[in-house]
Amino acid sequence: MPTQKNYKAFWDDKASTTKGALLAVDGSANEHVLQLTGAYSARQVATALALSKTDRVLELGCGVGRIGHLLAPQIAHWEGADISANMLKVARERLSSHANVGFTELVRTSLTPLADASFDKAYCVAVFIHMDKEDFYLYLEELARVVKPGGLIYFDTWNLVSHVGWRRYALEAAQYRNADFSARKDIARNQFSTPDEVRAFLEHAGFEPLLMLSDSPWVQAVAKRKGTGDTSRVELDRLNAQATQIAYTPLWTELFDTLIKVTTEGLPPQAMLDQVSDASRGEEIPMFRAWFLELWRSNEQQWGPVPA
Ligand SMILES: C[S@@+](CC[C@H](N)C(=O)[O-])C[C@H]1O[C@@H](n2cnc3c(N)ncnc32)[C@H](O)[C@@H]1O
Repeated sequence: MPTQKNYKAFWDDKASTTKGALLAVDGSANEHVLQLTGAYSARQVATALALSKTDRVLELGCGVGRIGHLLAPQIAHWEGADISANMLKVARERLSSHANVGFTELVRTSLTPLADASFDKAYCVAVFIHMDKEDFYLYLEELARVVKPGGLIYFDTWNLVSHVGWRRYALEAAQYRNADFSARKDIARNQFSTPDEVRAFLEHAGFEPLLMLSDSPWVQAVAKRKGTGDTSRVELDRLNAQATQIAYTPLWTELFDTLIKVTTEGLPPQAMLDQVSDASRGEEIPMFRAWFLELWRSNEQQWGPVPA
């Protein structure tokens, strides 16, 4: 039954307990898994934005600080902004050992509490996928306001035009095939974009797209706040050279596809573990192994005991 709540009520509900908050950010309530997925995302963000010790950085939709707590030591100031006070409460606790962090509770699709040009860089991971397209665009306009001219932003959203992205979308669409069409859809349901659409949003919001990656279920964008003239060749060359450290890899996509097949198409869960038995396949293996084991643990009633 779709909910008619607003974003704040939806995410505050999800994060009403610490366990619920962790589950809502990466599908696992396990700190070890959170550390592994956080390190993977933090590496992508740090590379995309070329973070440095002097940077003031904003994370829009920071959740429990999964990424922020790893980036804070690399920069001058990290600001976590989120619509959910409950998420921010958990983030505050998790980042309590960092002196250079701040938290901003948002009340609507706006960064009103934050001053113009007050950040060098900003990023947003797994957030735009959960909002209406109008709000996605309005937040980009707001990011253009709070990031200094010439400053970089990085974000992602689900990718409609990749094979696995489409399979993920088809699942979403199928839920509505027989739904009560007089009811509103869930406010935070998964939303999908195309690279062209993301590029158009960026350009209209005041950004110059520098790198667009779309060979995975995600569209990933690195863009520069307009206003400082032409982008140098050096900046573009750096991003192109580092694109493989920013992109979700073919292995990530393959493992994610298996996850979809197990959770929605009846593929036996052992197939997930078989795929992560060989650590030499790539750095994603330990992360997915921990993630898969945790998923199995939370589905033991249906799948049987986790293999020893
Ligand atoms: C899936 S979690 C991702 C959290 C974090 N970015 C990460 O990758 O660990 C989505 C986060 O976006 C926040 N969020 C959702 N809708 C929002 C909105 N309209 N404005 C600001 N934050 C929002 C949620 O409260 C939640 O913390």
